Amino acid sequence: MLSYRHGFHAGNFADVLKHSLITLAINALKTKDKPFVYIDTHAGAGKYSFKSEFSQKTGEYQDGIARIWDSQQLPEELKDYLAAVRAENTGRQLVRYPGSPQLVKRLVRPQDRLLLSELHSSDFEALKQLFAGDNQVSVVKEDGLQTLSKKLPPIQKRGLILIDPSYEMRDEQKKIIAALATAYRHFATGVYAVWYPVIERAATENFMRQWVDTGIPRQLRIEHCVAEDGPGRGMTGSGVLFINPPWQLDSQAQAFLPWLNQSLTGGKGRWTVEWQVPESVAETAVRN
Ligand SMILES: C[S@@+](CC[C@H](N)C(=O)[O-])C[C@H]1O[C@@H](n2cnc3c(N)ncnc32)[C@H](O)[C@@H]1O
Repeated sequence: MLSYRHGFHAGNFADVLKHSLITLAINALKTKDKPFVYIDTHAGAGKYSFKSEFSQKTGEYQDGIARIWDSQQLPEELKDYLAAVRAENTGRQLVRYPGSPQLVKRLVRPQDRLLLSELHSSDFEALKQLFAGDNQVSVVKEDGLQTLSKKLPPIQKRGLILIDPSYEMRDEQKKIIAALATAYRHFATGVYAVWYPVIERAATENFMRQWVDTGIPRQLRIEHCVAEDGPGRGMTGSGVLFINPPWQLDSQAQAFLPWLNQSLTGGKGRWTVEWQVPESVAETAVRN
């Protein structure tokens, strides 16, 4: 039984990192006219209100998107992401936030397609309603990892796959790695983005080692921690592991992370951009 609801966390520091990077990856796919598919295996409700009881209860967005949304001096790399958030809000007040499906829907072109899986009944209904009658978007209530096994390779032969689980099931990490390894065999040129939390450093490093052990090349890890991790501190950071990241995503991340870290933590956080499995020896790690 699923208990996680993304509404509690929408717009938090982890969403800001993940959605900024997804925006850059979609923009990179748009540099060619050929259509692509965006597959969101764990899609959530699609969009969120900060007036909801979920957001009101945690207020997590206050330490995330609220700190940057009306900034006038954005790094170039964050402009399209922030434009999408602003487009969700009609006035000067930050009230609504696009989840990954709504964010990507705002970015894609008519020739592109979205395929969204969500298992939680309420969030699935919200998602289905959000895109009702929209032929560009397919919404399914099924295990997103099964969606992957059925839909790859995509007919477009180009695509971004976001795997953004809630990590609430036992063995979820193992299942995700196995599903992606299979997906990669069917679609080795796809761009894959796997979100992960940093709660305990040792567990995070263990998860990353398992990715390295798959032998899949071109693994780029981008992580932002807003505080030191430690027992009882909860989620202090998050990252996105990219497989086949678009060209220059590493340098784009290096360009905006110092600003983001300063804006969200006053400089107290830490960020990492690391090719944990490089394509060539020229690729190296950059940490602050
Ligand atoms: C972190 S949230 C998704 C957030 C969303 N991707 C975004 O960035 O706006 C994870 C979602 O996955 C859903 N979920 C959990 N297990 C799933 C599964 N096996 N297949 C599809 N959805 C699942 C949860 O109900 C939850 O809504």
